[in-house]
Amino acid sequence: MNCEKGGCNPEQRIEQPVEEDDKYFIVVHQGTIASGELVIKDAKKRDFLAQKYNLLCFKTEAAGALADFPCLVIQGISDYCDSHKNNNWHGFAAAAAAAYARRLFFHMPTEIEEETSIKPTAFDLQSYLPGIRQISKFIARKEELTEMQEALQPTVRPHRRRAVVLHGLGGIGKTQLALEYAQQHHEHYSTKIWLEARNETTINQSFTRLAEQILQKEQVTYIQTAVDSQDQSIILNAVKRWLDKPANKSWLIIYDNYDYHDLDNAHTEDEEFLGISGQITVSMNLRGQEKEVRSQSYDIRKYFPKADHGTIIITSRVSSRKLGRPIKISKLKSLDDCLEILASNSGRNIIDDPAAVDLAKRLNRLPLALASAGAYLRQVPINYTKYLQDYKKS
Ligand SMILES: Nc1ncnc2c1ncn2[C@@H]1O[C@H](COP(=O)(O)OP(=O)(O)OP(=O)(O)O)[C@@H](O)[C@H]1O
Ligand SMILES: [Mg+2]
Repeated sequence: MNCEKGGCNPEQRIEQPVEEDDKYFIVVHQGTIASGELVIKDAKKRDFLAQKYNLLCFKTEAAGALADFPCLVIQGISDYCDSHKNNNWHGFAAAAAAAYARRLFFHMPTEIEEETSIKPTAFDLQSYLPGIRQISKFIARKEELTEMQEALQPTVRPHRRRAVVLHGLGGIGKTQLALEYAQQHHEHYSTKIWLEARNETTINQSFTRLAEQILQKEQVTYIQTAVDSQDQSIILNAVKRWLDKPANKSWLIIYDNYDYHDLDNAHTEDEEFLGISGQITVSMNLRGQEKEVRSQSYDIRKYFPKADHGTIIITSRVSSRKLGRPIKISKLKSLDDCLEILASNSGRNIIDDPAAVDLAKRLNRLPLALASAGAYLRQVPINYTKYLQDYKKS
């Protein structure tokens, strides 16, 4: 607004002649710059704040940036902080800032770059993993763990992202394997994150929990603002921004139970498995259930951080090459491992018990079935023979 429109008293005007050969044409001021989200157009408020906090000027650009990471904001001053606010000097201010920044680089020691790469706070896998059964003893899977290690070790794609997809039947042990890998290799990763990727609701809930978890360890203004907004897409972008930081490279994220998607037009392995064994009714039920959940399918890549670093493990009943190196998780090979799962879940001795061996075979060497049978036997006072008889009858 010009003086005429604003009703300013022309008597009060101080003329400032501008001559380019004036040696005071560019003046350097040094002092405190107030930074905030709101533009101040009230001259009285401006003067009050300037006096109270001994301020040189006000600005809105890059507001809060300093609170997020150590940085130097270089900005040209172009404007009045009152009703005379205008855009006339933006070009000049931008050129002055660019020229200053350029000069500054010539004086900056290169070590500063390393000093400012402050590592974000590290933290471990959430102690509370909703819906995941904590097992007392992890059994077998040595080959799979080695295959994962080979695919995820830093030499495979130096300084770039590495990803695997653990795929296999429901209950085969994908989630437990991913958690075991994270625990065995915890020293290689600064941050271990578990996200429930079953559908978009659960994955968004996981991101919100993760944002809160980050805030417990580290004060990150943009994550705090996102959490306060309660807007899921803002929270997702804020957490992704945190994971994208160049100094935050060594995280491990487990996207668990990403079972329903069609990225490669693949069939679930449950379908294949049940089809082969001729259990048509079960297969049909499963297909019905799947049809319902398929409507919730989504592209998980939207939930990946953008920067090409970090390590990702996806567990899924569906194999996909688009997301990472596929690793098939099969039924347990060794009968001894099956018996060990039965024993550790039932708390019973199984040595030389032919009924236990028979049961392990009947349960198709499927870890979930073995663990469930074991858990049942821990509660109910019947032996393996009786359980087997009941199982055969059912
Ligand atoms: N290596 C293992 N050692 C001991 N118990 C295991 C192992 N793998 C799986 N289990 C048992 O089997 C159960 C099911 O395993 P898990 O949840 O990992 O299967 P999943 O393949 O992820 O299944 P879903 O596709 O339904 O998510 C576990 O709760 C655990 O009791
Ligand atoms: Mg699982």
